[in-house]
Amino acid sequence: MSKINLNQEIKTIEKRLQSLIKSDDPILESAANHLLKSGGKRVRPLFVILSSYAGPDQANESAYRVATALELIHMATLVHDDVIDYSDKRRGKKTIEKQWDKPTAILTGNFLLARALEYLSYIEDPRIHRTLSSAITEVCRGELFQFQDQFRSDQSMTNYLRRINRKTALLIQLSTEVGAMTSDADAQTVRTMRQIGHYIGMSFQIIDDILDFTSTTEKLGKPVGSDLRNGHLTLPVLLEMRQDKIFKQKVALLHQDADAELFEECIAQIRRSDVIAQSKEISAQYLNKATQQLDSLSNDALKPLFQKIIHKLQHRIR
Ligand code: IPE
Ligand code: IPE
Ligand code: MG
Ligand code: MG
Repeated sequence: MSKINLNQEIKTIEKRLQSLIKSDDPILESAANHLLKSGGKRVRPLFVILSSYAGPDQANESAYRVATALELIHMATLVHDDVIDYSDKRRGKKTIEKQWDKPTAILTGNFLLARALEYLSYIEDPRIHRTLSSAITEVCRGELFQFQDQFRSDQSMTNYLRRINRKTALLIQLSTEVGAMTSDADAQTVRTMRQIGHYIGMSFQIIDDILDFTSTTEKLGKPVGSDLRNGHLTLPVLLEMRQDKIFKQKVALLHQDADAELFEECIAQIRRSDVIAQSKEISAQYLNKATQQLDSLSNDALKPLFQKIIHKLQHRIR
């Protein structure tokens, strides 16, 4: 296996992304470019490229196409998610809705998705298209369930886990699974890569949900405390409701137009509670499961690279 230079790989993806968002329409191009140049961790393309070393036909054109397309699909979900969440900040900049307006945001999301699909059409393996389409459907369902579960203080932990699996873990799972498929990896390796992506993805959203309480808007580049204000009851809140009945009663009183003070009180309680540490522990358990799966991979060179990224994600601050 040739040596993998992740910085170089990301540069390649950036170039492709830049040329893909070009459009005859100046508004679609500037809105897409606004989000693209604001940064982002590029986690999904990174996993596609890494996973494309799992089989014999490594880092080929299909792998780069999938990596680029997955970042575009992810960006499309972010643009739509910000409309759903009334968010005014993304990647440290104004959201598209804030900078332009809601129709521009919705249409830019569709534009990014369409560009991704066009770019993928070059790939002849129907498995890849089927897997991708079904993941996009599940992301929609995850966001829809989250909307339907807003402010529902009686929801179960299973509800939460199912939701984050759909809205986030699936796209990361897709990165590792389809990345492996592009390299013509055997069925068992593809399954293992898929599992690794699943566990990393679950942990990734749990950390995102923790950071929404513990970080600052400056560090995160997006609003903090916004999950609870939007009625999204995430892991720390569900854990706190379990251990404090009074807190649960307070959460049951929350609704869209509830007093800002009541929200502040609940957010402050979570910030000083041990449920933050408990949630970190649960996210670490998912990452441990991913690490265990790594051991069964036959490609030894891949393990330390995955390990390094897993470690970075576990300690990320944005
Ligand atoms: C944000 O994803 C939305 C989630 C699924 C948690 P990222 O944290 O990967 O966002 P960027 O791409 O780095 O901005
Ligand atoms: C976003 O979840 C998941 C998708 C974009 C599908 P969040 O709502 O937690 O993401 P952020 O925190 O806005 O990035
Ligand atoms: Mg959001
Ligand atoms: Mg979030």
